[in-house]
Formats: sequence, structure tokens, C-alpha cells
Amino acid sequence: MESARSKLGLGAAIGAVGVLALLGLAGLAVVYTGAYNVAATEEHLSLTRWAFDTTMHRSVRSRADAITRAAEDATPAMLESGASLYKSTCQHCHGGPGVEREEWAGGMRPRPPHLAEAAAEWEPNELFWIAKHGIRMTGMPAFGPSHDDETLWKVVAFVAQLPAMTPERYASLGGGAGHGHGGGAHGSPGGMATPAPAPEAASQAGSPAR
Ligand code: HEC
Repeated sequence: MESARSKLGLGAAIGAVGVLALLGLAGLAVVYTGAYNVAATEEHLSLTRWAFDTTMHRSVRSRADAITRAAEDATPAMLESGASLYKSTCQHCHGGPGVEREEWAGGMRPRPPHLAEAAAEWEPNELFWIAKHGIRMTGMPAFGPSHDDETLWKVVAFVAQLPAMTPERYASLGGGAGHGHGGGAHGSPGGMATPAPAPEAASQAGSPAR
């Protein structure tokens, strides 16, 4: 009796290990055969998209909980400098009230969402966490390595107000024409209007032929 039962247990254990091994092999096959299409011209499967999204939201929420900075009222000066940083570092991907993201940013998968809508889903501490740490494997950069916390809180103060902001107010903040390419003006691809890829391109152009 005893031994029959333990044989059954052993059989089940071997079966489970076998199934796991097969799953592992199937996973390796996908990795090595190139079966998975990484093209950004393809949309994610809805299951993949759901898994990414949910993972991202839960991950940000649980980490941002540790940031306990009392919400302070955004002063006009904060908004001004937050706006000018937003327009020079975020707008080409995320657009703004009355301003579309650059055409090339629409080719990213996932596409950077319009923050004028998406920002409403996040608390300020979560926006701060995202801006500081970025989101791996999405193209959302981490701004922590290049900007101090004070600066990032200013962008956050500005971003938090985007959902309620009119295009006119958006256009009037952050030095207006300073960095922006003028409301709605389309940067021509390859033209001078796209500052982002410049550093790398410049350093390649500047280096002697390899
Ligand atoms: C190179 C393009 C790019 C730049 C520049 C960029 N982002 Fe993003 N951002 C993304 C992408 C891509 C995502 C991920 C979208 C997803 O996962 O659905 C994202 C996600 C976000 C999110 C989460 C939105 C959501 O609900 O999914 C916030 C908030 C955000 N970015 C804020 C910023 C801020 C603030 C800046 C400027 C300091 C900035 N981003 C600059 C591409 C960019």
C-alpha cells in the first residue's frame, strides 16, 4: 500500500519535471530559432501587451510607494522650468496639448502615450519614479543619471497638470518658441528639427574613418 502510493508520488514528480523541461526547451527554441519577430512594425500580441502593461504598472506602483514626498503646490516658477524641460526632452515622444509627438516616435513599439491623457493615471510620486528610472525595454529613458531630483520634480509638477491644460496655456509656458519647434510644426525627418539622435551621430561623423 505504502509503496504503491510513493510510486504514484514519484511518477507525478517525474511527470512535472518532464513538463518543465519541455517548456524550457520550447522557450530556448523560440530564443535560438529566431521565430519571434522583433520588428517594431508589428503590434504586440494582446496577451504580450497585457503582460507588459500590467507588469509595468505594478512594478512602478510598488517602487514609487517608497517615495514619500509631500505634494507641494506647483509655483509658477516650477511650472515654467518644468515646461521648458518637458518641451526639450519629452515632447518629441509624448506630445502635449495641441502638439503631436514627432513622426519618428510614432514608429516606436510600444508607442509613447500622449501624456496629456496618460498622466492622469499616475500619482506624482509614480511620475517621478518613471522619469527618474525609465522603463526598460520600452524606449522610455531614465532621466535620473542626467538630471537631479529637484529638476525632475519640476517636470513632474508640470506633467501632472497636462491633463487639464489647454493648448494655449501649454504653448505659453516654458519659453514658448525657445525649444519647441512651434506648435504643430512637423520636424522633417533628417532635417535640423530632430535634436535627439544628434550626439551619437555627431560623434560618429567627427571620428576619423574606422
Ligand atoms: C525616446 C522617447 C521618449 C522620451 C524622450 C520620453 N519618453 Fe516617456 N515613455 C516613452 C515610452 C516608449 C513609454 C512606454 C509606453 C508604454 O509602456 O506603454 C514611456 C512612458 C512614460 C510614462 C508612463 C505613461 C503610461 O501611462 O504608460 C511617463 C509618465 C513618461 N513616459 C514620462 C516621460 C517624461 C516626463 C519624459 C521627459 C522627461 C519622457 N517620458 C521622455 C518614450 C519616451
